[in-house]
Amino acid sequence: MKLFDVYPLFDVNIVKGQGCKVWDDKGQEYLDLYGGHAVISIGHCHPHYVEMMTKQLNTLGFYSNSVQNKLQVQLAERLGKISGYDDYQLFLINSGAEANENALKLASFTNGRKRVLSVQKAFHGRTSLAVEVTNNPKIVAPINDNGHVTFLPMNDLPAWEAELAKGDVCAVILECIQGVGGIQMATAEFAQGLAKACKANGAILICDEIQCGYGRSGKFFAHQWLGIRPDMITVAKGIGNGFPMSGVLISPEFKPVYGMLGTTFGGNHLACTAALAVLDVMEDEKLVENTHEVGEYLMAQLKQLQASPEGSHITDVRGRGLMIGVEFDKPQAEVRKPLVYEQHCFTGCAGTNLLRLLPPLCLTKSDVDTFISRLKKVI
Ligand SMILES: Cc1ncc(COP(=O)(O)O)c(C=O)c1O
Repeated sequence: MKLFDVYPLFDVNIVKGQGCKVWDDKGQEYLDLYGGHAVISIGHCHPHYVEMMTKQLNTLGFYSNSVQNKLQVQLAERLGKISGYDDYQLFLINSGAEANENALKLASFTNGRKRVLSVQKAFHGRTSLAVEVTNNPKIVAPINDNGHVTFLPMNDLPAWEAELAKGDVCAVILECIQGVGGIQMATAEFAQGLAKACKANGAILICDEIQCGYGRSGKFFAHQWLGIRPDMITVAKGIGNGFPMSGVLISPEFKPVYGMLGTTFGGNHLACTAALAVLDVMEDEKLVENTHEVGEYLMAQLKQLQASPEGSHITDVRGRGLMIGVEFDKPQAEVRKPLVYEQHCFTGCAGTNLLRLLPPLCLTKSDVDTFISRLKKVI
């Protein structure tokens, strides 16, 4: 059997990782400013993570959601404390799309409505509702195109207020920093106005923090820069540092009913152990603070490069923490490919011209210096 060939791949076989570095099968070392698509939060193969996962695997890998699982309770308590959402409830699933799927479903169960407002260029995943609220017709199959969604421009508050005033909106879903959409950022004025308009019109505000959350922006959640408190928050990627896991943080106003949501694998023992190990390391190594500090340093270095003759092809540098976009006046592939093949640095991208940096949150200033010097060679 052959693989179903849907991914354009770099011709590199990564076989080993440690911290912010990965190695291919020929022993070549790479600096990782991609984090396997914002997934690696505490660094590759962190010893504490490996130890906890090994112990758990030797004890119990999985049992179902039909029995008590104290690890889930511990995780909910720890996550509530570290994120400032002590009073919220946690529902655990396995992927980002599934988190958004369940958040939208719970919103609709709660207010009985069907219409969703989403942002132009939004990406929320590839399952039925998640892909319907994703603004990319190329990945929406006819079976997913059910007319539930209106896409509106980021930060155009009057447009959102006008739609919400119709009184039929079930939910609004928002990435406060768009990932796939190209590091477009919501302003505080927009986010606060939107939250107010949602409340006034009975719509539920969901912040998709799957990429921009879990410390990546330099606060635990990206929306915490904007002074809002959404009704639901979806998390994935960094929560398990590579172990497939996701969650929905749900405000106390939502009352659970047995059977309304459910999953076989969600919140299993290994997944919870991964998430607990991640939180241990995030706290011990102050990774949210590190993200803020090193992110500011990286941003300053990139802006300095943009202002120099070497950076004349850079048209914009934007983002927060360790979620940064570098826009070029030429295709990013002309930078990204030589970065991998010649300078041995992994980066992400968005659209044709944007290089997207999503490194592990343990990136150091010295890693930044290495990256900048390699980027200079390429541009
Ligand atoms: C903001 C956002 N939401 C949802 C998803 C979907 O997550 P998954 O691929 O785990 O389903 C992604 C993945 O890139 C994302 O960036």
